Amino acid sequence: LETKERVPVIWMHGLECTCCSESFIRSAHPLVKDVVLSMISLDYDDTIMAAAGHQAEAILKETKEKYKGNYILAVEGNPPLNEDGMFCIDGGKPFVEKLKWMAEDAMAIIAWGACASWGCVQAAKPNPTQATPIDKVILDKPIIKVPGCPPIAEVMTGVVTFITTFGKLPELDRQGRPKMFYSQRIHDKCYRRPHFDAGQFVEEWDDEGARKGSCLYKMGCKGPTTYNACSTVRWNGGVSFPIQSGHGCIGCSEDGFWDNGSFYDRL
Ligand code: SF4
Ligand code: SF4
Ligand code: F3S
Repeated sequence: LETKERVPVIWMHGLECTCCSESFIRSAHPLVKDVVLSMISLDYDDTIMAAAGHQAEAILKETKEKYKGNYILAVEGNPPLNEDGMFCIDGGKPFVEKLKWMAEDAMAIIAWGACASWGCVQAAKPNPTQATPIDKVILDKPIIKVPGCPPIAEVMTGVVTFITTFGKLPELDRQGRPKMFYSQRIHDKCYRRPHFDAGQFVEEWDDEGARKGSCLYKMGCKGPTTYNACSTVRWNGGVSFPIQSGHGCIGCSEDGFWDNGSFYDRL
């Protein structure tokens, strides 16, 4: 890596909450400072760059021309398509136009989080703005989906590290997710699994089962149907994850979790 030129990254933001960025900047392995200062050249990012206005817009054009076929397009959020894209105007244009334009010459396209991958809460029924996942508007290129709301920091930097190190996309599953992080369910590696197998469940938030750390399935845990690395990689540098904090998984990396009863829907 030391002898390699840093790969230009354009990080665009559509309809989103910016917590994917918040997650990314907390990566501990590798440290995000090493990613940003040694592995990639983060040339454009609406939320953290110093440039603004025409100066910022010029970076997009310059990158597209100078690094044609050699830059990574990382997308946080999604384009709303209703009313000709008027619900997200970026640099004077509908975000969807800017997104498609930068996608044309990208080496790789990453969909960060549930927003870019699936739509997320802004696409919840009846989805008045027609918030749309990016693979529905970029049709001619493979897209690496890194779902989660947000995705785990080390999963995000792990995907970037793979692409910059090997110069190719990681192996993806049928839904476009990197197999190295999304091939197992939370339930497969959950430390509460012995309680599930033994039929020991939390039935109320303050009951004996809750105090003993029993399984959260009856409290609505979606771990059995959720593919993500939380029970192995964990969060905050490997310290914990939602279930370890006492709350069931809401399936935040699964398509449609916002409309499928994930929020406090108990058995
Ligand atoms: Fe925020 Fe979730 Fe969207 Fe990421 S996927 S920008 S955390 S709403
Ligand atoms: Fe499975 Fe959830 Fe129970 Fe863990 S807490 S064993 S993920 S149902
Ligand atoms: Fe999301 Fe479930 Fe992990 S809610 S953060 S996929 S444990």
